[in-house]
Amino acid sequence: MNKTLQLIASRRSHRAYEQKQITAEQRAALLDAAVQSPSAVNRQPWHFTLVQNKDLLNKINQYCVENARSKTDASPRFLQEDYHVFYHAPTVIFISGPKNTSWAPIDCGIAVQNIAIAAESMELGSVILGMPREAFQSIHGDEVRAELAFPEGHDFIIAIAVGYPADTKDAHVVEPNKIHIIE
Ligand SMILES: Cc1cc2nc3c(=O)[nH]c(=O)nc-3n(C[C@H](O)[C@H](O)[C@H](O)COP(=O)(O)O)c2cc1C
Repeated sequence: MNKTLQLIASRRSHRAYEQKQITAEQRAALLDAAVQSPSAVNRQPWHFTLVQNKDLLNKINQYCVENARSKTDASPRFLQEDYHVFYHAPTVIFISGPKNTSWAPIDCGIAVQNIAIAAESMELGSVILGMPREAFQSIHGDEVRAELAFPEGHDFIIAIAVGYPADTKDAHVVEPNKIHIIE
């Protein structure tokens, strides 16, 4: 297996992190990997907001928890007392994109995987996060969008937490019948 295939195979979603911050070089490399992603018609329909401010991450977590718990169909994760949407990771990158554009979520999804693989290549852990959307759907949505400097007309698409992992995880079980080869 070549190095790229090894990195793809060894990546895991990490849900516990050491409280040691990543370096400025690692941070720059993650953002470089993000902006080099391909996008439909090269529109680059994304904005990356990298946050290392614990108070801000804790506040967004709190808004997520409050919003999710106010619903009857809250994800079971939100009912766990110690659940933190960002798993106390020291760095989180929020990816926002223009509302109501068909390719933006796919483009941002490719960018988030580029970040995950870049993190893996630097022996950092990561977890892609959709749950933070609760904060943007809450009554605090505009406040959070402004605090994260989302461009006008952008909304949250996906996030990724990054740091030194403090857990280990097996590879997910690959479901059968997901591939069909026609020769
Ligand atoms: C679009 C997307 C959203 C996700 N959102 C969350 C999330 O909010 N919280 C979380 O703990 N994991 C989240 N995950 C991680 C998945 O649960 C994880 O990728 C899956 O269980 C497979 O495990 P692996 O990444 O270790 O292979 C998300 C993954 C993707 C691709």
